[in-house]
Amino acid sequence: MTGNPPPAEPRQRAVERLFSPVRIGKLALSNRLVVAPMTRVSATVDGRATEGMASYYRSFAEGGFGLIVTEGIYTDKVFSQGYQYQPGLADAEQVEAWRQVVSTVHDAGGRIVAQLMHAGGLAQGNIHRDHTIGPSALRPKGEQMAFYRGNGPYRIPRAMSEADIGEAVAGFASAAALAGEAGFDGVEIHGANGYLLDQFLTEGINLRQDRYGGSIAGRLQLLVEVSEAVRSAVGADHVVGLRISQAKVNDFLHKRIGGGREAEAMFGALGTLPLDYIHTTEFEAWRPAFGDDGPSLAALARTHARLPVLANGSLHDPQRAAAMIEGDEADFVSLGRGALTHADWPKRAREGLALEPFDKRILSPIADLANADRSRSALLDIAS
Ligand SMILES: Cc1cc2nc3c(=O)[nH]c(=O)nc-3n(C[C@H](O)[C@H](O)[C@H](O)COP(=O)(O)O)c2cc1C
Repeated sequence: MTGNPPPAEPRQRAVERLFSPVRIGKLALSNRLVVAPMTRVSATVDGRATEGMASYYRSFAEGGFGLIVTEGIYTDKVFSQGYQYQPGLADAEQVEAWRQVVSTVHDAGGRIVAQLMHAGGLAQGNIHRDHTIGPSALRPKGEQMAFYRGNGPYRIPRAMSEADIGEAVAGFASAAALAGEAGFDGVEIHGANGYLLDQFLTEGINLRQDRYGGSIAGRLQLLVEVSEAVRSAVGADHVVGLRISQAKVNDFLHKRIGGGREAEAMFGALGTLPLDYIHTTEFEAWRPAFGDDGPSLAALARTHARLPVLANGSLHDPQRAAAMIEGDEADFVSLGRGALTHADWPKRAREGLALEPFDKRILSPIADLANADRSRSALLDIAS
């Protein structure tokens, strides 16, 4: 082996692996490239998606992504909303607004699933309730996120009663049914990044002593109930996925305390649920999930859940993305910041065109679409 990069031709051939058509459940996709879910706090104050959001999502379909996962959408009008200007799927007006987005994406040949999210103790901007709930009454680590219009410490959530848990499960189920009405191709349950379902999964955050806490089976119980309720709500023909992470938006370096053994048990149990895929996210998807050696989180999910896996995390280099497929670690790759930089990343990668690094100003000071437009035109002014 020399240290030289492979010649352009074989490199492009490797990238072609990203472009083979494939199915998730009953949904046929033109390639293995997925837009990762990204909260953009750009809906109306009462949670309706806008025309600007429709063009934003359409641009990814036009740019060649096989599948788009929406930003996290709140599921009920009680405790699920996390952020001001977050869209919801909890009433007829919100469904109608999403219908416009979905048909715009479908018209451009895209496929789109709705990410269903309950913020739990990390809710920092909920127009429906002035307090938060979670598995246990513990103040979340860290500070509310400024780029989603929050500041200061998180509130201490009220520990959820069985009735609260029932209401949260019903919210996921009803939002999933409404996603079907809006025309979505499926839903992704947000079980990652420190939000409600991840709070229940995580030792040290879930201190419950009832059947929703304790062992890994207890901590998984809510996810099991939500997955089953969502599947019953959407039926067999729609895709149902689940997102899982170690890191949390308020604790970026978090690792699961139980390590590989817990991950194995967790993914094994998730593999028995009525799910069509698991979407794993790590800072760098290809790194060992635990310690310096061993499989990535995506590979652990694929091996133990035996479901199709979407891998996410710093995969904006086409070679790196293709290597996840080539190495049988994942079936799909999803891009967050890479897709924000280039909505046409798939076309560019396929043609071997230049890909720019992500510019933080797209999301700063506020992570909404208006800020992104302003920062893009400022950059164009500088360039011209
Ligand atoms: C502005 C922004 C908003 C995000 N919102 C969500 C979200 O709503 N749901 C979610 O599961 N992940 C969310 N994420 C995480 C991304 O889906 C993805 O995991 C992260 O950007 C790392 O992938 P990347 O390296 O391709 O950017 C968000 C990321 C960004 C940058």
